[in-house]
Amino acid sequence: MSTPDSPRPPWDGRRIVLGVTGGIAAYKSIHLARRLTRLGAEVDVVLTRAAERFVTPLTFEGVTGRAVLTDLFSVEGAARHILLGREADAVCVAPATADFLARAAQGRADDLLTTTLLVARAPVLLCPAMNDRMWAHPQVQANADHCRAALGYELLGPDTGPLAVGEADGPGRLVEPDVVVDHLGRLLSPAGPLDGVPLLVTSGPTREALDPVRYLGNRSSGRMGFALAEAAWRRGARVTVVSGPTNRPEPTGVEVVRLESAREMAREVEARIGQVRVAIFAAAVADYRPALEPTSNKRKRDGNDWTVEFVQNPDIAATAIPGLADGGVAVGFALETEDLVDHAREKLRRKGFDLVVANPANEEGAGFEAPTNRVTLVTEGEAEALPTLPKEEVAERILDRVEGLLEARAHADSAADS
Ligand code: C5P
Repeated sequence: MSTPDSPRPPWDGRRIVLGVTGGIAAYKSIHLARRLTRLGAEVDVVLTRAAERFVTPLTFEGVTGRAVLTDLFSVEGAARHILLGREADAVCVAPATADFLARAAQGRADDLLTTTLLVARAPVLLCPAMNDRMWAHPQVQANADHCRAALGYELLGPDTGPLAVGEADGPGRLVEPDVVVDHLGRLLSPAGPLDGVPLLVTSGPTREALDPVRYLGNRSSGRMGFALAEAAWRRGARVTVVSGPTNRPEPTGVEVVRLESAREMAREVEARIGQVRVAIFAAAVADYRPALEPTSNKRKRDGNDWTVEFVQNPDIAATAIPGLADGGVAVGFALETEDLVDHAREKLRRKGFDLVVANPANEEGAGFEAPTNRVTLVTEGEAEALPTLPKEEVAERILDRVEGLLEARAHADSAADS
């Protein structure tokens, strides 16, 4: 089950100018405008004349609830482009055609969109989409490079994949709108203490194999870990997730290391812990595994019972945390049925966490399979109970705390130096 988008940071309340230029991928920007609006952004869509051949202003007005702008040479257009550009928190052009890239690179002001671009001082994200041969043309490449290197615009894509009239599966496809949403989220996030910080997340369930077809698993969906990873990336962290099996969509901008068993996860974490400053242990690791190594053949039904003996798995967090660099921050989770805060604090001390996210195991709207969670953030000194929130929002609150801990460490270091 997934939650529908609801207004949340960093999109909520922000002003985004969405420029749509005249390519076949323009229809995908309807979804983009819709998602940004549902995330709480005020989306002002500016269509070029060519874009209007593919999509209509009415469609965008329907999904954004705001007037769509097309004409520079109207009383409204002339005044609005100055305001739009000045008030924008981000400008996104998707799709950006070859013609648009050329005009943007030259600093032209021959329509409402290019004019708005000249007025704006906010971050600009251009998402090129065109025929693969056009994209490969040296002049298009030069224009794209100029937009990136000289003008400071971020270019996203194009993706490689089937094109409307492509020669092959060459680069030319518009990046998926959901990924554009994520990148806009990153541009809208102010640089904070996580900027540039290497960060590791463990996520998802583990599987302990009995034979080639059977395993011992658990109900973790991996949603919390992936939400944390993506939110940390938006804040500028360099993120690796080691993840047990999950069918959640991969988080944008993050290196994902896929594995199955607790012992595999332990190896991957051990190999990385010395290079990260923040480690978040969100995985639901199997505490036990079958004592015998998995058989190579499927066990047949033979009329007898099957008794399996279990042995303990390594505690990944407890083993890894001493290897975290000085000044590093470790976050753990605690799924409890009773005495939430006491048990969480005991775990905090025993395993060496700086923060434990405690959540009730037996409550509707919280825990493994729910899209929401009701957590209490437990540190040595305090326990903050949050209301039931979507896991994406819980991730933001956890990272606010992680940033607070990093800042406190930095202050402590500079006080010790002076
Ligand atoms: O002791 P408990 O399993 O409740 O601890 C939960 C915390 O410890 C979580 O952060 C979980 O990711 C981590 N853990 C681990 N390796 C284990 C068991 C738990 O890293 N074998």
